[in-house]
Parts: sequence; C-alpha cells; structure tokens
Amino acid sequence: QSFSDEELKEYERIGEEEIKKGKLAVVTLAGGQGTRLGHNGPKGTYELLPNLSLFEILCNNFKNAYSKYECYITWYIMTSKDNYSQTVSFFEEKNYFNYQKENIVFFIQEDVPENTLDGKLLVDENENIKRGANGHGGVFTSMQSTGILKDAQQKEIDWIYVTPVDNPLIELVDPVFIGVAKKENYNAIGKTIVRKNPSQKQGVFCLKNNKLNVMEYTEIPKELMEKENPDGSLYFKYAHINCNMFSINIIDKLLQIDIPYHIASKKCTFMDLNGNIVVPTKPNSYKYEKFIFDYFPHISKIGIYVVDRKYEYEPIKDNAEKARNAYIKKWRLK
Ligand code: UTP
Repeated sequence: QSFSDEELKEYERIGEEEIKKGKLAVVTLAGGQGTRLGHNGPKGTYELLPNLSLFEILCNNFKNAYSKYECYITWYIMTSKDNYSQTVSFFEEKNYFNYQKENIVFFIQEDVPENTLDGKLLVDENENIKRGANGHGGVFTSMQSTGILKDAQQKEIDWIYVTPVDNPLIELVDPVFIGVAKKENYNAIGKTIVRKNPSQKQGVFCLKNNKLNVMEYTEIPKELMEKENPDGSLYFKYAHINCNMFSINIIDKLLQIDIPYHIASKKCTFMDLNGNIVVPTKPNSYKYEKFIFDYFPHISKIGIYVVDRKYEYEPIKDNAEKARNAYIKKWRLK
C-alpha cells in the first residue's frame, strides 16, 4: 500500500505532534562486538569520516530534531558489559556532542555463559566464567532489569524505536513513520527495504501461520534466499533491517514471553588449565544470542514500512567503504 500526498501530510502532522509531546525515545543497540569490522573499540566510536564517529552521526538526528521541534528526545544506549566504560568515556570526551547530557542514558545488556564445542565452560584471564552479550533480542529484558523501561514509563514515552549502531543513514526521528504507527494503532512497526541482491546478508520477512516472522540469513537455505517470483523479483521480497519501533505497552506484554536462543560458533580467547591465555585460530566455542524479531509472531498488530535504501540503509558490517560513500551521497542528494 502506498500513500497519497495528503495521507503523507496527515501522518507527518500526527508524528510531529507525538515527537513534540515527548512520546518518542530511541534505543541504540550498541552491545554487539563488531567482529567483522575489526575496529578496536565500541563500534559506535568508529569514525566514518575524519572526526565524525557513528555515535555523532546518530546524535545529529536528535540535534536536528531539537532545532525543528524544540524538544529533547531521550536516547538510550545499550552497551555490553565489556564496552560500557569505553562507550561512556567516549561520550564524556566528546562532551556528548553538545546534546543535552541528561537525555543520553546508557545501560548494560545482560549476558550468558559461552561454552566449548564439547560443552565445557571457559574461563577468562581473571578466572571468571566467560560470558557474552545475549543478542539484540535481549534488549527488553535488559531494559527492564536496568530500570530503563521504568524510566521511559515515568517520562510517559509511548514509542521505543530500537535501532542498530552501525547504519549511518538511519533516520531516527521520522514523523511519517511515527504518524503511521500512531494513526493505524500499530503495536510495532519495522522499517524494511526491498531486496535486490539475493546474496546480501540480511534476514527476510515472511509469514508463518499468518504471523509475521523473520528468517535469519544464516538459517535459510541458499535456494530460498535466491528464489524468484515469475516477474523476476525475489520471493522473499523484504529485508529485516533491525529498525523496529514498539509501543511501550506491547513491550510490557512481550516481557512475559521467553524467546529462544540461537547458537553460533566463534573464536573465544580463554585461560587454559596451566594459566596460559589461548587465542584460538578457529572457532572453539558456542555463543548464545536472542534475536529481537522472535518477538514479532507474538505481536497482534505489527506492520512493515518500506523505505528507500539509498536514504536509509547502508550498515557497516565487514567494510565501511560502501557506507561511507552512501553517507556522503545521501547528504549531497538532500
Ligand atoms: P550484528 O548482529 O550485525 O552484530 O548486530 P555486530 O556486533 O554489529 O557485528 P559482528 O556480527 O560481530 O561483526 C546488529 C546490531 O545489534 C547490536 C549490534 O551492536 C548492532 O547494532 N547487538 C548485537 C547488540 O546490541 N547486542 C548483541 O548482543 C548483539
């Protein structure tokens, strides 16, 4: 379904009203390891352009919103236990990019033990059991256990927009998107792009028993990722880009649901029985992660919202060059 200009204007008006009333908060998922990028430090501290980090690019969304709507939007940043201090120090060093400090709130995501391929626990250099962040699907329980959810409720926030740290094109304050969610009474709404390239490493939206689901690219056979419709478009047409907004009321309900862990093998540095630190050259352990989209089939009114890739999506995974070019191009086009 596409919207007429009049409908778009109406959604925009409603969305702007929500923003001005302080109903929007953003959660940035910054607890990932960014292993593929190989950057030394939290992924958000990576400078896409000289002296312009991903965190600053994200923060500019809020600064622009302030000049437009004269209101401060609360920005919650979820870090891992390991990158929390480095993340907070970075913001201190950069003087919170001259955004209002009180509106940037950090919280630490929960973690779970990792184990060897034959089921033994690993120990780190401090003789603690090795643990890893529990995946972006851990965001709601982590918001609850750290008091962030309560904070949002006390601030009478209605919409929590949960987004990745590594997409510099992201529009964090998008009135039309919010207007659609509000007017059409969505409990959750996720941005998506139309898939063009079947080999792109993204999950895909699908319907299972008439419920919205996402299949992760690592868990789908290649033939299905590449399957086409008679007109040449991809059968699984819509990519999950991890930009999903939830009503605060539905988050409360989702907390009653236990979503599964997904297992992946990884290289995990550990201390052996002789006290030596071992850096493995091939995967030696399993990590356990929850994925946010496993909540989707449990949400009664959920929608997807198609955006234009060149304006909204070019994440940094293993290579920043494409995202850098896309970011420069976007600002030239605007
Ligand atoms: P990815 O799954 O792409 O992982 O995360 P990553 O950590 O960025 O990169 P690789 O796979 O190690 O190379 C998507 C988003 O979810 C966040 C990431 O920070 C990123 O913004 N995330 C992921 C978390 O916040 N916590 C997690 O436990 C996992």
